[in-house]
Amino acid sequence: MLHKPLDAIFPSPPDGLDPFALDPERVPEHVAVIMDGNGRWAKKRALNRLKGHKAGIEAVRETIRCASDAGVRYLTIYSFSTENWKRPEEEVVGLMDLFAKTMLAEVDGLHEEHVRVRTIGDISALPEETRAAFDEAWEKTKDNDGMTLLVAVNYGSRQEMLRAVQACMREAVIAAEETGAIPQVDERMFERGLYTADIPDPDLVIRTSGEMRVSNFLLWQMAYSEFYCTDVLWPDFNRYDFLRALLDYQSRDRRFGAVQS
Ligand code: IPE
Ligand code: IPE
Ligand code: MG
Repeated sequence: MLHKPLDAIFPSPPDGLDPFALDPERVPEHVAVIMDGNGRWAKKRALNRLKGHKAGIEAVRETIRCASDAGVRYLTIYSFSTENWKRPEEEVVGLMDLFAKTMLAEVDGLHEEHVRVRTIGDISALPEETRAAFDEAWEKTKDNDGMTLLVAVNYGSRQEMLRAVQACMREAVIAAEETGAIPQVDERMFERGLYTADIPDPDLVIRTSGEMRVSNFLLWQMAYSEFYCTDVLWPDFNRYDFLRALLDYQSRDRRFGAVQS
């Protein structure tokens, strides 16, 4: 359901892009974004990489607003992967600080928009200040009924799946001990162990900066997601790029392994 008229969400579209081409009835329920290209954006301007990450915040703000207005129910933003610890210490520390400050600065505005802020990933490994900022955001917004914003931070799909397997093993072994049967695991049980346990799979995955890879993101959950890749570097990504992704998504024929409808 649209929360604003299309021409209010997309007030000055570039030539050739028509917001009214969007079908409000077929907006994806869950959009996941691999926000990439902050470093290259900074490099092009001879700036420190952290300046690229800071510039990326505006793109995050605009994407959240636009997705919420367009009626997206879940928006996942890949903010820090389990592999991103390999980056120089200055960048990692700067990113953690940026997450904490941004979360604290934005939470009231998100709350006013009825957004629910959650994390996926192992936040116990984050610096105290960063973890506390995410916890506070969740506490403040958990009862909201608007869009759920999932911040993937210290998130890695392989780590998530191993964690789910361990949870399954515990559950299955206990059940088997009671009945004497062989331990059994099924899809539902596995999914209960994922960070996204109660979240529908992403319908649309967007990746910026021209890369065509998944980088350990939602491997299980994106089994049938539609992909949209754009050369735009994340800090340059705006509502019209988001609209292009939505329109492209609506042009796809999703078959889920069945025959064409
Ligand atoms: C994405 O931008 C942000 C994070 C991974 C935190 P990058 O920092 O990966 O930017 P590039 O890929 O080096 O341009
Ligand atoms: C993916 O981007 C992770 C995030 C956007 C947080 P990366 O820049 O880390 O991915 P690779 O290294 O190019 O695959
Ligand atoms: Mg990158």
